[in-house]
Amino acid sequence: MPASTQQVGKDRIEHASRDEISALQLERLKWTLKHAYDNVPHYRKAFDDAGVHPSDFKQLSDLSKFPFTTKQDLRDNYPFGMFAVPRDQISRIHASSGTTGKPTVVGYTAQDISNWADLVARSLWAAGTRPGDIVHVAYGYGLFTGGLGAHYGAERLGCSVVPMSGGQTEKQVQLITDFKPDAIMVTPSYFCNILEEMERQGMDPRDSSLRIGVFGAEPWTGQMRADIEARAALDAVDIYGLSEVMGPGVAMECAETKDGPVIWEDHFYPEIINPETGEPVEDGEEGELVFTSLTKEAMPIIRYRTRDLSRLLPPTARSMRRMGKITGRSDDMLIIRGVNLFPTQVEELVLRIPELAAQYQLIVTREGNMDELEILTEIRAEYEHFDQDRRDALVSRLRQSIKNNIGVSARIRLQDPGQVERTVTGKARRVVDLRPRA
Ligand code: DLL
Repeated sequence: MPASTQQVGKDRIEHASRDEISALQLERLKWTLKHAYDNVPHYRKAFDDAGVHPSDFKQLSDLSKFPFTTKQDLRDNYPFGMFAVPRDQISRIHASSGTTGKPTVVGYTAQDISNWADLVARSLWAAGTRPGDIVHVAYGYGLFTGGLGAHYGAERLGCSVVPMSGGQTEKQVQLITDFKPDAIMVTPSYFCNILEEMERQGMDPRDSSLRIGVFGAEPWTGQMRADIEARAALDAVDIYGLSEVMGPGVAMECAETKDGPVIWEDHFYPEIINPETGEPVEDGEEGELVFTSLTKEAMPIIRYRTRDLSRLLPPTARSMRRMGKITGRSDDMLIIRGVNLFPTQVEELVLRIPELAAQYQLIVTREGNMDELEILTEIRAEYEHFDQDRRDALVSRLRQSIKNNIGVSARIRLQDPGQVERTVTGKARRVVDLRPRA
């Protein structure tokens, strides 16, 4: 890359030496382990049961002696049992609704909120956003961390923020047209809906003012990036995060390399483990992402099992390690007649067929003892005039591609534009599992 186009990070630490980053992690991990042990009964008991004490932590590799934390631990301590500071020092509470039961609650001190804003500002900078830019936030505002997390970060960077939140797709298009934002922060699936609405109104999304799309909160593939970039003429970059660890901005992809989110290692310590054995694996190997917070006051989190499957990759645009694009969550993995399958694999194959839209859903049923997979897809509006023969040809192309690449036989239902369920806001529902619960 010529020096003139080379980007630099917003903060000095983004280009620090590995030694400096490791030294900072060591010091911050010591503080975090002690803070958790001293102030959260759950951690004191978990460490005692595992026979470890914060004073046993002398080097980074000692972290693997400490017990994992799971979503169940957060549920068992509902609502405020994981907080490490007195309640009156909590300045914000977020929660994520689980599929069943109680929501998972997370808390922040004023300092935590400020660190979070700094990290989202750093992330937006990495995406190519600069002070003075207009940022349209279409992540949902509320208990979900997406909207407010994005908002505070964009403000911190010195941008003009449009707090649109999710939904009201026509209004989204109107505000994008009238306010002319430079960047949009939104789930990739909902951005596809916004693009469709623009196209429905006869606009060419490539003519919009948007230069940057900061997409995350759900898995999306390289094919989806290519599709969005071609349709909207913007840089589509990946932002990763989860409420239990902070919210958006745990890791962010740099616009100049687009090679996977850089983990902000001065605030989060990543590990990849084998999800079956819990043993850490080498960098580069795929497994489950595990995070330990390094600076969080209100809710330090120790070795949190994210269920997200990824890999740790060496640094490129910044000094910190990257994560590979998330393949899926271990809980999203479908096993269809013995074949393991993630929705993202289907996304990749659907989008390799140019006549198919970036909209799909997997329906799983059981007939007798056999699992059946049906894939709902859609023809793009410009090919809607295709007759039955040409549609049948598309169906058999996708069926064959899925059989060859994934190894599973699926029924394909090709529908007219607009027929696959759209998420009104937020995360797409890619799988509908209708099998009886075991
Ligand atoms: O989704 C936080 C967020 C908001 C991230 C906006 C990025 C942008 P949760 O609702 O707690 O928090 O869901 C976290 O979403 O464990 C992943 O499974 C998934 N996820 C988040 N970002 C990505 C991404 C927010 N870039 C869960 N790629 C995580 C793939 C993602 N999956």
